[in-house]
Amino acid sequence: MSLSYEEFKKEASRLCGTDLFLYKSQQMDRRIHSLMSFWGVTSYDEYLEVLKTNPERFQEFVKRLTINVSEFFRNPDRFIEVWERFLPEILQKPGAIRIWSAGCSNGAEPYSVAIILQELNALHRATILATDIDQVVLDKALKGAYVFNEVKSLPADLRAKYFRQEGEVFYFDDDLKKRVQFKKHNLLLEPYPENVDLIVCRNVVIYFTEEAKKKIYLGFNQALRVGGYFMTGGTEPILYYRYYGFQNIAPSFYKKIGPPKPEAEAGQWSLP
Ligand SMILES: C[S@@+](CC[C@H](N)C(=O)[O-])C[C@H]1O[C@@H](n2cnc3c(N)ncnc32)[C@H](O)[C@@H]1O
Repeated sequence: MSLSYEEFKKEASRLCGTDLFLYKSQQMDRRIHSLMSFWGVTSYDEYLEVLKTNPERFQEFVKRLTINVSEFFRNPDRFIEVWERFLPEILQKPGAIRIWSAGCSNGAEPYSVAIILQELNALHRATILATDIDQVVLDKALKGAYVFNEVKSLPADLRAKYFRQEGEVFYFDDDLKKRVQFKKHNLLLEPYPENVDLIVCRNVVIYFTEEAKKKIYLGFNQALRVGGYFMTGGTEPILYYRYYGFQNIAPSFYKKIGPPKPEAEAGQWSLP
């Protein structure tokens, strides 16, 4: 057997449980090949065999493909807006609120939201779901141990209040940790939660093809209640947000104003 690159990618997709063809090919191909040469593997057959038989290398492969850097209050200005503007508005509705951090990585993102809610005296009203495709980062999130670089953007008073520092390690507050529910979930494959008030999905879709992004934005529209918000990463503006039933309220913040336009759902994209 002599696998072509396309065949290898197909088989690797099956192993990883995610369609690698839905990730931007330039970045994906570069990462796949750099690992191949790093391991001194010379054929795709051999590469596949390594992934099938060596769990450590398989984990490393998944990790390399999914890139999972994160930090507390990443782009602090945007989190301040969540704090001062968007969460207070969402909290005006009575009863429980639902937040979903999709592609949550090591937990810094949903934990940042938990801190803000605690500061707003509203954490008890919130359900925070945090999902990621990568079990390794989810385990790290559950542990809640961070290095300075991952907490550096937090205001110092919040860092002192919500972390216990031991040497170089910052341990996140146990009570707040318990308020976030982590779950393994593939955004490209699995059903989304419903009736969400705020979706935070940042620096995730940047790695996906346009086709995959469309699927995710349509899914987010369905997952949100009308009036709910979707917060993106700083470099992920949604060009055709109106087609997905969103209004662009501020940089990185979109509000669901209704269902997607029928042509968006039908996958017809004769856009302006
Ligand atoms: C760069 S991190 C972003 C972390 C965090 N949202 C932030 O902005 O700091 C991207 C995360 O997306 C996750 N990811 C990649 N593909 C995914 C998929 N198909 N479904 C769910 N999560 C995925 C990766 O495992 C990684 O943890």
